[in-house]
Amino acid sequence: MDFPFDLNALFPERVSVLDNNLTAGQKAPGRPDPQIQIATVIDELGKASAKAQQLPAPITSAAKLQANRHHLYLLKDGEQNGGKAVIVGFLKVGCKKLFLLDQQGAHVETEPLCVLDFYIIETLQRHGYGLELFDFMLKHKRVEPGQMAYDRPSPKFLSFLDKHYDLKNSVPQVNNFVVFSGFFKSRSAAQ
Ligand code: ACO
Repeated sequence: MDFPFDLNALFPERVSVLDNNLTAGQKAPGRPDPQIQIATVIDELGKASAKAQQLPAPITSAAKLQANRHHLYLLKDGEQNGGKAVIVGFLKVGCKKLFLLDQQGAHVETEPLCVLDFYIIETLQRHGYGLELFDFMLKHKRVEPGQMAYDRPSPKFLSFLDKHYDLKNSVPQVNNFVVFSGFFKSRSAAQ
């Protein structure tokens, strides 16, 4: 996804970590406020992700990111678009208080790190970019995929989790979140 401004100037790193401040680098003197351009990028990605998942409305927008304690990881390819870069995709995570059912069907109150939105541009899917972004997030958050909860994962994402992280057996829930069989084991070991 390209934009009519220099993404390499806006996002100096290959993966940028954005939070409610909507900043990714230093504000350069004489340049327009980067927050407005960053907000444009997030809003367009949020719309594209919603369309790809056939959601009625985006779950990711600049306004929502500003209002929550979420982290959004943004991946660019700095060489494309005549050196102005393209955005490859994004991954949004955040902690949520959840009531989940363990393998015995007992209610457990948890507050895991959740994957809330994940999108790679259509033409760039199945090239390993999703894995690059996901692995970056795992290292940044120091978390294992089995310790996380997944908000309404799409079939493509479930296939991704199975292929790359061997996550297959989900524990049935009554909400939209998916957790896998090791989730409750790793929790009790940590307590
Ligand atoms: N059909 C089935 N599985 C797919 C597809 C597809 N079209 N695309 C990716 N995958 C899965 C497969 O397991 C694939 O392995 P394979 O090619 O050997 O079958 C694997 O992902 C490929 O891994 P990557 O190349 O690292 O993944 P990618 O860069 O495509 O990113 C993602 C994965 C984010 C799910 C991407 O396909 C995408 O954006 N899909 C559309 C939006 C979406 O469904 N997002 C998840 C929403 S749910 C949530 O966020 C909680």
